[in-house]
Amino acid sequence: MRIWVGTLVLLMSCGAVVSGWDGTPTMRPGEDCLACHSAGGSASARRFTAAGTVFGDVHANHDEGVANANVVITDSAGNTLTLRTNGAGNFYTAEALHFPIQVQVENSQTMKMVDRPASGSCNSCHTVPAEKAPGRLFVP
Ligand code: HEC
Ligand code: HEC
Repeated sequence: MRIWVGTLVLLMSCGAVVSGWDGTPTMRPGEDCLACHSAGGSASARRFTAAGTVFGDVHANHDEGVANANVVITDSAGNTLTLRTNGAGNFYTAEALHFPIQVQVENSQTMKMVDRPASGSCNSCHTVPAEKAPGRLFVP
C-alpha cells in the first residue's frame, strides 16, 4: 500500500511539469518567464537571466508574438548579446548578465527602452493591461 501511494504521487508531480504546452520554448508567451525560471520557481533547474516575448503592438493578444525579431541586450560590463525570437515571439538566455542592462528590439524598426532595467524579467513589467510599462514589449 505504501509503495502504491508513493508511485501515484510521483506520477502526478511529473505530469504537472510536462503537461499541455508547458515545458517547450514556445510556452506561455506574454507571461512572466522568470517567475518560474529562477531560483525557487517551478523551473529552477532551467534558470534564465533574461526572458520575455516580443509582440507587434502594445495591446497584442498573448498568441500574437512576433517571430525572428532581435532582442539586443548590452549589460553594464559592456557585453552584448543578441537573442532571436522564436515562433511564439519568446526569447530567453541563461548567460550571466551584469545589471542594469540596456535593451532594444529590432525588426523592421528598432525600439529602445529608455530606462535601463535592473531585471531581465521583461514580461513582469510589459503586461496587458498596462501597469508598470506602457503594455507589451513590442516592435513594429
Ligand atoms: C508557470 C511556470 C512557467 C512559466 C511562467 C514559464 N515556464 Fe518555461 N518551463 C516551465 C517548466 C516547469 C519547464 C520544464 C523544466 C524542466 O524541464 O526542467 C519549462 C521549460 C521551458 C523551456 C525548455 C527548457 C529546456 O531546456 O528544454 C524553455 C525554453 C522555456 N520553458 C521557456 C519559457 C519562456 C520563454 C517563458 C516565458 C514566455 C516561460 N518558459 C514561462 C515553467 C514555466
Ligand atoms: C521594471 C519594469 C520593466 C522591465 C523589467 C522591463 N521593462 Fe521595458 N519598458 C518599461 C517601461 C516603463 C518602458 C517605457 C519607458 C522607457 O522606454 O523607459 C519600457 C519600454 C521598453 C521598450 C520600448 C517600447 C516597447 O515597448 O517596445 C523596449 C524595446 C523594452 N522596454 C524592452 C524590454 C526588454 C527586452 C526587457 C527585458 C530584458 C524589459 N524591457 C524589461 C519597463 C520595464
